[in-house]
Amino acid sequence: MSELKIGLFGLGVVGSGFVKVISRAINANAGIKKICVKDLGKERDIELPEGLLTDNPADILDDPEINLIVEVINDADAAFVIVSEALKRGIPVVSGSKAMVANHLPELIELQRKYDTALLYDASSCGSIPVIRNLEEYYDNDLLLEVKGILNGSSNYILSRVFDHNQSYEDALKTAIELGFAESDPSFDIEGFDSLFKLIIITVHALGAYVKPSEIFTYGISHISDFDINYAREKSVKIKLVAQVVKISDSEFTMFVMPEFVSRNKYIYSVDDEYNGVVIRGECYDRQFMFGKGAGSLPTASSILSDVMARLHGYRYEYKKMGYKGRPSYSTEPVLKVYVRYRNTPVTELLPFITIQQRFLSDDVNYVIGEIKLSDLIKGREILAAPDVFIVNIPTFFVHLDN
Ligand code: HSE
Repeated sequence: MSELKIGLFGLGVVGSGFVKVISRAINANAGIKKICVKDLGKERDIELPEGLLTDNPADILDDPEINLIVEVINDADAAFVIVSEALKRGIPVVSGSKAMVANHLPELIELQRKYDTALLYDASSCGSIPVIRNLEEYYDNDLLLEVKGILNGSSNYILSRVFDHNQSYEDALKTAIELGFAESDPSFDIEGFDSLFKLIIITVHALGAYVKPSEIFTYGISHISDFDINYAREKSVKIKLVAQVVKISDSEFTMFVMPEFVSRNKYIYSVDDEYNGVVIRGECYDRQFMFGKGAGSLPTASSILSDVMARLHGYRYEYKKMGYKGRPSYSTEPVLKVYVRYRNTPVTELLPFITIQQRFLSDDVNYVIGEIKLSDLIKGREILAAPDVFIVNIPTFFVHLDN
């Protein structure tokens, strides 16, 4: 492909990182022609040539010389308007916006097909780890069993600081925001939605199946208490926010995001701070593990650069697996084993546990360990959202294989 003339939307943490890395990529044959920002008056710690900034999207979209758009803005709705408009004009796009991609993927795939152009978004999932393109190209087989991991750097940073450094949850969250790991609304990180969006994108490229965010059980770390942390320490496990998509049979898979007790023999046990770790399991190769920085300016910008280079060579996702025969369908029927800690909310009366294997009652804290259907956790979302309740998954899928 000839020289890439890039129109960049967004000059925040990732956008400014991209300006730095593209200037050092001598083989990219690419330059930034225009940068569209929300606030032209904002002070920025990056030096830019005169006339590069605009606050008018049309200065990029209407410029016939611009042949690639890089979109790294915070607002998912605005991102969708920009990206869909660019695709309709046949301009390829590289995007880092997981919320936008996860919420609109079917329409975005249709637009790419209709207007014969490409949208690449490896940077949207797991920062610097090249998970999407690998799932799309290398793991293009029927033998994938599971993709599971820590997909959110901020919540992992918080849990690491709390667990290993005895920092308070509040201080750790504040630092994650200061270091630029967290979303502009950090509740997306700590309530599990950032992990959810990444999991949805991963599932499209892993199994060729798109599931809407509202249909997936998602539970974050904001209710974690000292009791839960001490419980985990006593059992020599860590609590990590884990996203997983698991084939439960040849014809069905399940997926969810929730805190999990992670034992020492798991790869993700050692994934700390803002790092992400993804375990890919297959029938023939047991487990493989991808590890790297999942958040932050330069790690995410490096992934954007990789997509820009991929475009230089004409790469596009083909979504081949979406057309495969015998694709598995999504199920919420699996039974999970969970720890539920509570105080006043009568969780055992309100949630239909199939079995209760342990029950601990005291004056100020209680917990149960029991089995419950994933579909009943989805129905019980409001009960689990009570401030005195915290739920942790106790893994059961494939555990016999990992010792
Ligand atoms: N807020 C995200 C995280 C940024 O903490 O992982 C990278 O997607």
